[in-house]
Amino acid sequence: MGHISALTAWLILAAEVGAVFIILTTAHDPLTVNVGFSILAGITTWSAIPALSEIFVKAGLKGMDLSKRTKHIIPESMGMVAGLIYLVTMFVFIPFPFMKWFTGSNDGDLQELKLLTFPNLKLAELLSALLSIQSMVFLGFADDVLDIRWRFKMPLPAIASIPLLMVYWVHLGVTHIVVPIPLRPILGQLIDLGVLYYVYMGMVAIFCTHSINIMAGINGVEVGQSLVIACSIAINDMIFLQSASSGAPAIETHLFSLYFILPFIGVSLGLLIHNWYPSKVFIGDTYCYFAGMTFAVVGILAHYSKTLLLFFIPQIFNFLLSAPQLFRLVPCPRHRVPRYNRQTNLMEPSRVVLDEEDDLDIEFSNSKQDSKVGSRQSAPGRSASSAFLSSAGATAQDADDSHMKPSSSAVGEGSNLPSTTTLLQDFRPFKDSKLKRSGWYCIKLLEALGLTHVRYDAKTGKRPLEMTNLTILNLILLKAGPMSERNLTISVMVVQFCCSLVAFVIRHRLVAFVYDVV
Ligand code: UD1
Ligand code: MG
Repeated sequence: MGHISALTAWLILAAEVGAVFIILTTAHDPLTVNVGFSILAGITTWSAIPALSEIFVKAGLKGMDLSKRTKHIIPESMGMVAGLIYLVTMFVFIPFPFMKWFTGSNDGDLQELKLLTFPNLKLAELLSALLSIQSMVFLGFADDVLDIRWRFKMPLPAIASIPLLMVYWVHLGVTHIVVPIPLRPILGQLIDLGVLYYVYMGMVAIFCTHSINIMAGINGVEVGQSLVIACSIAINDMIFLQSASSGAPAIETHLFSLYFILPFIGVSLGLLIHNWYPSKVFIGDTYCYFAGMTFAVVGILAHYSKTLLLFFIPQIFNFLLSAPQLFRLVPCPRHRVPRYNRQTNLMEPSRVVLDEEDDLDIEFSNSKQDSKVGSRQSAPGRSASSAFLSSAGATAQDADDSHMKPSSSAVGEGSNLPSTTTLLQDFRPFKDSKLKRSGWYCIKLLEALGLTHVRYDAKTGKRPLEMTNLTILNLILLKAGPMSERNLTISVMVVQFCCSLVAFVIRHRLVAFVYDVV
């Protein structure tokens, strides 16, 4: 390990020895053993990544950092290392929660009797959860290597969760939801969703995995958001473990959740050190799928999928905001990450071309210097599709910055937003626009809500030419102004953290107004 100082090496050795000591001396307490394993997993991930980086690059697993002045290639799919170390850790951990069934008695009959009470279903839960996570690590890696098309990869997490749902059906089988108090006079106390409950859990798996993958693209943001979610889950579990009112089943399920989340926090921290700005490695889709599935697994088996979704508030918002692009109501470029400005070294909202700009617009805009118009000047006569590709490419920072620079006066300044009256008048689809009618309404609504900035043609001022890409990262830049890549990642983590606080207030305080809390 040539990349670390002697002091750090000693500290790591001490941590490793400490972790092994914890494991050996507390073998009867699975949670403490799990903490020991998590520390070991974190250190192993952190030290294995630099050692494996070159091998990954040689194998063709590499990507270009889109938001840097100099184009450098760095290893991609390092989530594979984190995922594998996580799985090995969990495999080694499997016997520990069942230790009391293996030890304690020399009396053969008594031991046999003990084994009759062995919690087979608990073991099945553990194994099926690992199978689901392992499948997603594998599928994420396949996506990194083969770049699987969205229509094929979209349902894969639901399929990977089938082993888990099967065990859920045998063990818990709870398919009813408790109706909130205000709705009980109409709907009754419980609603049995039956098979729909399984559909819902499959959707949770799909959402958790893909939502992290689409809130991505700047150094450290995928691991950063996942770490905040994982810590929130761990804190929530600990609250339940400490609470005197938690019954035995609740304690068991939250312990189960902690067994999965703590090693995840360990490997993610080890990975984040290398993925933090300026990234030395990329994590790939492998990590996004691995993280999402781990969250889905604990949410489903520990029976708190609704609380889990509260920790996903930024991802839910990002998904809803992205929906017009994801469902192709408006164009969606290959990369929607914010655009790096080489001159300022800051990130700015990236834009997608909606319609071509014709010669007349350019002449008009040059002479009039319309304040609504960004500085993007398309080549005359260029087709919509080539302009569209260029926008995606510009997001990939290959375009000349002066050519693609969004107008600083046009972005992030309230004075340029159309007034409500104008907006209402403009809500009718413009007949010459190439946009679909549904896309038009989406853009108008998002613009009215201040969630995107649209640039119109100079001639009529009504034909949308381009808009900022619909992601939470671009929105933060739109509202807060250009910032460094590192600060943007920190901003996303702060948003994620604040949403977790809101989630805790809802789950542990406001819940009393809508549910009977025991
Ligand atoms: C998703 C997003 C896409 C976004 C991409 C970024 C959707 C529908 N798709 O696509 O808009 O641009 O993630 O990951 O929202 N990269 C960096 N810096 C980073 C991380 C990634 O430059 O810190 C770049 C690298 O070139 C890397 C590439 O992003 O190779 C990875 O993109 P990939 O994960 O393949 O994109 P998708 O998941 O398909
Ligand atoms: Mg990705």
